[in-house]
Amino acid sequence: MIRGLELPYICSMEQLLARIDGLKKEITAYPDGDAEAFRIMYLGSKGLVKEIMGEMKNVAPENKKAAGQLLNEFKVFAESKYDELKQLSQKRQQDNGSEADLTLPGDSVPLGTRHPISLVRNKVVSIFQRLGFAVAEGPEIEDDWHNFTALNLPENHPARDMQDTFYISNPVKGGTDWLLRTHTSSVQVREMEKGKLPIRIICPGRVYRNETISARAHCFFHQLEGLYIAENVSFADLKQTLYFFVQEMFGSTVKIRFRPSYFPFTEPSAEMDISCLICNGEGCSVCKRTGWVEILGCGMVHPHVLDNCGIDSNKYTGFAFGMGIERITMLKYQIKDLRLFSENDVRFLKQFTGAV
Ligand code: DAH
Repeated sequence: MIRGLELPYICSMEQLLARIDGLKKEITAYPDGDAEAFRIMYLGSKGLVKEIMGEMKNVAPENKKAAGQLLNEFKVFAESKYDELKQLSQKRQQDNGSEADLTLPGDSVPLGTRHPISLVRNKVVSIFQRLGFAVAEGPEIEDDWHNFTALNLPENHPARDMQDTFYISNPVKGGTDWLLRTHTSSVQVREMEKGKLPIRIICPGRVYRNETISARAHCFFHQLEGLYIAENVSFADLKQTLYFFVQEMFGSTVKIRFRPSYFPFTEPSAEMDISCLICNGEGCSVCKRTGWVEILGCGMVHPHVLDNCGIDSNKYTGFAFGMGIERITMLKYQIKDLRLFSENDVRFLKQFTGAV
């Protein structure tokens, strides 16, 4: 093309028709969705409709009328597509609105409650922690030494019969001496063997005994063991510690008493009773008309136990105690059947909310 001699561009009717045709196809295929994006692309001030309308100036004068008609029709076509898209998106918004109000709070997931045994265990632990006791744990599958022998219960000791043991394999037949721990006193031994003194620990945990399941007995239950070993620990320290525990757990009006008892691992040994919470010591069916209920066993750690665990029994003394968490829980909440704790009936469990 020679400069200055460019011929004016003439848009023929065929060209115009072809372009309109192409755009119509594009518009027809435009997906449902963003009406505003469509408006900007086709109908906006820099849109394709405006652009093709601009071709009018390039149309030969004799074609102007027909071209104007074609372009107007095309504009109406694009506008009706825009209206259609707008209506669709409004409908979609309304539909959403009738199905769900997005501003409403969601469905709440019902929260479970803590098991009463956990609630009471946590409370007991926190009381002793305030006295400086640390939590210690040990295995539920134990060996004979930690569960019995080290605790002054050598083989054939009659007191082993006090606790019907689940053995994992029979030592008589040449197996190992594994068993399910029958009490948390085994954790005492493990802590003493570590040799770090003084010791001031509590050991909460599950224990197992081969008992027939009834309202008052179960083949597994929970205990909490306490142990304090240092120089000059006396029975008075034991009494004061347990007295503090009872007052914090059951209230300041509850009385305590100690009865002499026997445990192979303590000497002297005692059982501790509290005045009955139901009848305030008057006598009722819960306390079997005595006014007292037993809650734990305790005593001064037997020198044999200290020696067995490598602690100098001439230098150190200590006290120990062990309580059943189920028992404390039953007294606290007046629950009469031990089986309720392991049946997992939600109607029972959901009654216990919050801390004790
Ligand atoms: N281990 C005993 C039992 O399971 C409870 C017990 C009694 C623990 C006296 C002690 C204790 O630490 O001194 O029946």
